[in-house]
Amino acid sequence: MHLLQLQIQDFRNLRKVNFKPVEGVNLITGVNASGKTSLLEAIYYLSHLRSFRTPQITDLINRQSSQLQLVARINTDYENIIPLGIQRSRNKLEVRANHQPIKRVADIATLFPVLAIHPDSYKLITGSPLQRRQYIDWGVFHVEHNYYSVWQRYKRALSQRNAALKSRQNNAYCSLWDRELFDMATYIDTLRGKYLANLAPYFNELVTEFFKGQTVEMMYKRGWPESTSLIELLQNELHKDRMKGLTQYGPHRAELNIKVDGQSAQTGISRGQQKTLVALLRLIQAQQFTESTGRNCILLYDDLAAELDSNHRQKILKVLAKMQVQLFITAIEAEQIDLSAWATKKMFHVEQGQLKDLI
Ligand SMILES: Nc1ncnc2c1ncn2[C@@H]1O[C@H](COP(=O)(O)OP(=O)(O)OP(=O)(O)O)[C@@H](O)[C@H]1O
Ligand SMILES: [Mg+2]
Repeated sequence: MHLLQLQIQDFRNLRKVNFKPVEGVNLITGVNASGKTSLLEAIYYLSHLRSFRTPQITDLINRQSSQLQLVARINTDYENIIPLGIQRSRNKLEVRANHQPIKRVADIATLFPVLAIHPDSYKLITGSPLQRRQYIDWGVFHVEHNYYSVWQRYKRALSQRNAALKSRQNNAYCSLWDRELFDMATYIDTLRGKYLANLAPYFNELVTEFFKGQTVEMMYKRGWPESTSLIELLQNELHKDRMKGLTQYGPHRAELNIKVDGQSAQTGISRGQQKTLVALLRLIQAQQFTESTGRNCILLYDDLAAELDSNHRQKILKVLAKMQVQLFITAIEAEQIDLSAWATKKMFHVEQGQLKDLI
């Protein structure tokens, strides 16, 4: 899958941009505040229907406009080219794929899978467990087709159970959803475990190269103690759940712990190490995506040069050059990024929201 063309209207400072990237690597340069991150953010928005920088839609719509518009042409891996379009005003969202309205974000994400590495990405490590669950779930979602609906069922049962707990319903009523929770939880946990086991060889290979002589471990905690049955736990802990007004155990409490030489990656390593680690986590996710689906995804790398020292930068570029992804990199100056390893490449320059093709 790759992006052939993206027409942007009124997305942040990009008032009118016609972007025609290549299938290999696209380098976007420009001074501070020219609109580089905004360009990547627009691509990301088209896939996720949310930004990696802000939860507020009003931040994304150009200040002098009432709506933004993104119209893309993508080459799906099924040998066809289809249009994708988004129109977003402050209170209305319209999404179309191949001229048909799209109702679920899952559908557009499937058509147009996009991963991003950006200056705030280290929060994947330092932030809440939710972010790490989302990391795992992105991968599972793209490999297992019914994962999304199973998650939806789990979420519905969980919120109904929590509502019953909060409104102090009797035990029998609160337990009505236990079976559904248990069934969905078992499925979610199995698929998450399988996905992480699939990622492990990619992770180990890169970690050996980037964290020489160090031990880096990634440990998945499923959200309830090993060797206990969730259905029994739901029943036995019901009184505590009732006191707290929420369900304490289940895949909604899963966690991915990362340790470097026995130290928690959240608190015990440097920011540069965290950034490297997050980059590796995204790279392996893209690699595994290609292997398991036979499709390519898009990888956005915002501010690659600013993120890493030159040794790490070179190493990352070497890994990127071997990957089957459509790549978008931003940098202040072209000299910071060595693209010599790529056969298919194009350079762009942004100046005050205007995009120019360089070669
Ligand atoms: N909703 C908006 N409407 C208009 N302009 C906006 C909006 N949101 C942000 N901007 C402006 O867009 C400009 C481009 O921001 P962006 O973050 O894309 O720059 P950048 O090229 O990535 O810069 P840097 O090198 O500093 O990361 C900034 O000047 C910002 O103030
Ligand atoms: Mg930027």
